[in-house]
Amino acid sequence: MKVLVTGTAGFIGNHLALRLLERGDEVVGIDNLNDYYDVQIKKDRLARATAHAGFTDIRANLEDKAAIDKVFKEHKPDRVVNLAAQAGVRYSLINPQAYIDSNITGFINILEACRHFGCEHLVYASSSSVYGANTAMPFSVHNNVDHPVSLYAASKKSNELMAHTYSHLFGLPTTGLRFFTVYGPWGRPDMALFIFTRKILAGEPIDVFNYGHHRRDFTYIDDIVEGVIRTLDHVAPANSDWNSDAPDPATSKAPYRIYNIGSNNPVELLRYIEVLEDCLGKKAEKNLLPLQLGDVPDTYADVDALIEDVNYKPATPVETGIENFVRWYRDYYKV
Ligand SMILES: NC(=O)c1ccc[n+]([C@@H]2O[C@H](COP(=O)([O-])OP(=O)(O)OC[C@H]3O[C@@H](n4cnc5c(N)ncnc54)[C@H](O)[C@@H]3O)[C@@H](O)[C@H]2O)c1
Repeated sequence: MKVLVTGTAGFIGNHLALRLLERGDEVVGIDNLNDYYDVQIKKDRLARATAHAGFTDIRANLEDKAAIDKVFKEHKPDRVVNLAAQAGVRYSLINPQAYIDSNITGFINILEACRHFGCEHLVYASSSSVYGANTAMPFSVHNNVDHPVSLYAASKKSNELMAHTYSHLFGLPTTGLRFFTVYGPWGRPDMALFIFTRKILAGEPIDVFNYGHHRRDFTYIDDIVEGVIRTLDHVAPANSDWNSDAPDPATSKAPYRIYNIGSNNPVELLRYIEVLEDCLGKKAEKNLLPLQLGDVPDTYADVDALIEDVNYKPATPVETGIENFVRWYRDYYKV
């Protein structure tokens, strides 16, 4: 298969590209290498992909319609995975426009290109943050998610709505994946695990929001990649039982699916930090603070739909995942 992956210099996109290349797919990768976080780690990730003959590396912005159309026209991908986006909840309070540009304008360009140049299946990143003000746990794809608490979440929910219209109007099969706090080697420097590791090793105090009491369904990168590949291979089908009088938000009479990908095993932040301390062999100095604006207190994924449709449930415990992360971090930064 020829798969177009956007965000190939990013954390998840890079791991995904490598796995697709290893199984023999051709990968056309798009990334703009923006400086939202350290560009060097993006370049180093990308170098792992460019080492493969089946990888085509393209520098482009999703919001540049002409550039995106050109990539589709030239490379004619069979399937597309859209992971490039402005990520991060907190940054969306500081620079909301970046979310409109990459996540809304960028996404419509991907949808339009899939429509006009032909694409068997579009898989795209949504986020657990779409659950917003919902508190019924575990979070189910069958519940409505109409109360986002950050513009980041609103942009991801918008992607799901936009995808549905293209599945309905043009028969484009689309699958939206709600990722739950992904972590692991080659992770994102703006995320808690990375920041905690750097500060603990430097002997600096760490900011622990919500006094460390929120629970996150931390999901290991390999589990995420396995889930993305399984859904990519399972072209979103129409649900012939879909009832328009009682509409299920996760499926449709159009070829449209939404799945949670989370570990289905929420861990309290204080426990996550404890595991990190054990792996580093060093105690953290904790600066306990209230919950940050835009953050949700707890996340916990119901992954029944993922199990049912693609027979998969993420399984890596945080003890193993954090140990792998710390080993990579020490090696990469030579600390
Ligand atoms: N990591 C997580 O915990 C998590 C959780 C939920 C959802 N997600 C979503 O998963 C996707 C991948 O996340 P990630 O953690 O790998 O993020 P990342 O920031 O590491 O990767 C995104 C990549 O996309 C590129 N990019 C951003 N905007 C672009 C644009 N307009 N044009 C071209 N390239 C652009 C960036 O340079 C970056 O390399 C994102 O859509 C993110 O919102 C991630």
